[in-house]
Amino acid sequence: MSGSTSAVLLAIEPAGRIAREIDDLWRFMLILSIPAFLLFLLPLLVALRRRGAVEDGDQRASTDQSRALSPLWLYGGGVALPALVVISVLGATLLTMRSTGEDAPDGALTVDVIGNQWWWEVRYPDAGVVTANEIRIPTGRPVQLRLRSADVIHSFWVPALAGKMDLLPEKTNTMVIEADEPGRYQGQCAEFCGLQHANMGIEVVAEDPAEFEAWVRRQARPAAEPVGSSAREGRSVFAAACASCHTVRGTDAAGRSGPDLTHLASRRRIAAGTLALTTSALTEWVTSPHDVKRGVSMPDPDLSEDEIAAVVAYLEGLR
Ligand code: CUA
Repeated sequence: MSGSTSAVLLAIEPAGRIAREIDDLWRFMLILSIPAFLLFLLPLLVALRRRGAVEDGDQRASTDQSRALSPLWLYGGGVALPALVVISVLGATLLTMRSTGEDAPDGALTVDVIGNQWWWEVRYPDAGVVTANEIRIPTGRPVQLRLRSADVIHSFWVPALAGKMDLLPEKTNTMVIEADEPGRYQGQCAEFCGLQHANMGIEVVAEDPAEFEAWVRRQARPAAEPVGSSAREGRSVFAAACASCHTVRGTDAAGRSGPDLTHLASRRRIAAGTLALTTSALTEWVTSPHDVKRGVSMPDPDLSEDEIAAVVAYLEGLR
């Protein structure tokens, strides 16, 4: 799994400490449940066989039946054994809950994640970095996520790194994620949140600490100046048509209702994972977001083909 993309949402391939402890708990419960299930199944099968024998008129079987109701069976199989199983599972669960808890260990990085219909805002409060739909983290370091929602309830779920946690409108929830190896870990909103719930993907990109620090420095910079006449024209079109919803740091565009686009071109996908970031995808999206993702808040902008090409050229320069 190291260094690769977990393309499928698989909780049984943990890629960090938190996910591994949850996975260990699940395996413990699985292994415990197999003998427990067989132990409970056995008397049931014996009873069913005897009942069949009684119905066949075998008198010897009915005397065996009364012998089977010994206190050992009743208290052992009916009280002690279930209690042992339940207490073991409870104990293991409490231990796992304590070690995978919401509190950040020392040295943790703090990242704010805000759920929106249907995308994720990602903020690094210490570095002043804002991005969307992609959370960069350094490997080997716990990261505390502070999760909340701008609208309805969403749920953060990156199964290779941790369990699920809800994003609520009126309360901030926290959780800790951690990745051992560099890689891309896929996630998905796990709480139905409207029409495009299924297209609310998120990706955690884990990098070596030095690479991560370099990424933070690049992201903290203001937007790149447009290069070329088309991109320059695109900036003017963007300022008139898009700036009331989107921020591009270093320009007058300071809207807050849509994703921050300061370094859009450094991301791999747009529209919360719906499209890979290519010229044609950007053109499709800017022309008619509703054809790509019906119900999104972004209105279809009333722009000519030339204006759209110019905006796309501008966006592609936002590295
Ligand atoms: Cu957000 Cu489902």
